Amino acid sequence: MFIRTRKDGSPKSGVRRKEKMEEIKKEGRYGRIYKQLSELVLKSNNAQARMSTIIAVLHHKMDYFFWTGFYMIEDGKMTVNAYQGPVACQILEKDKGVCWAAFNKNETVVVEDVHAFPGHIACDSRSNSEIVVPFKNKMGKTIGVLDVDSSTKGSFSETDAKWLEKILELVYL
Ligand code: SME
Repeated sequence: MFIRTRKDGSPKSGVRRKEKMEEIKKEGRYGRIYKQLSELVLKSNNAQARMSTIIAVLHHKMDYFFWTGFYMIEDGKMTVNAYQGPVACQILEKDKGVCWAAFNKNETVVVEDVHAFPGHIACDSRSNSEIVVPFKNKMGKTIGVLDVDSSTKGSFSETDAKWLEKILELVYL
């Protein structure tokens, strides 16, 4: 699900060209990261170790990732897990904000401008856009989410959604 905040929803052609180039660059980067991660995860069979490795690689290789981490459902509470970036909220108020929205809908949510998202939880006021991807266990049950924040508006696209969903599958490979 995309939460669009542009007034007419359609950028001008020059902007579209620039966006297309950005998407091509992103594809290349994600492709390289995916290859690196698919080799790294094989070094252990431990889900937590793999999750931490995924966060570290993504956070340091993607320059627009301002906060990168997992929130997991622990005793019904959306609780922070492996992450990199500024100190974050440890527990997110139930059914509020972007992480709960993605978890409850069980689909990836992309928010172009977090200030336009009703109920958005601002753990850090520098965040301006966000993507949240449901995280499934071996049996396909959604047990948490991957959350990435950017300090720039409109940082995330279908390309991020596609690759982050694919990268999460490496945890229980
Ligand atoms: N913005 C999230 C909260 C987590 S922080 O971004 C790290 C939300 O609205 O659920």
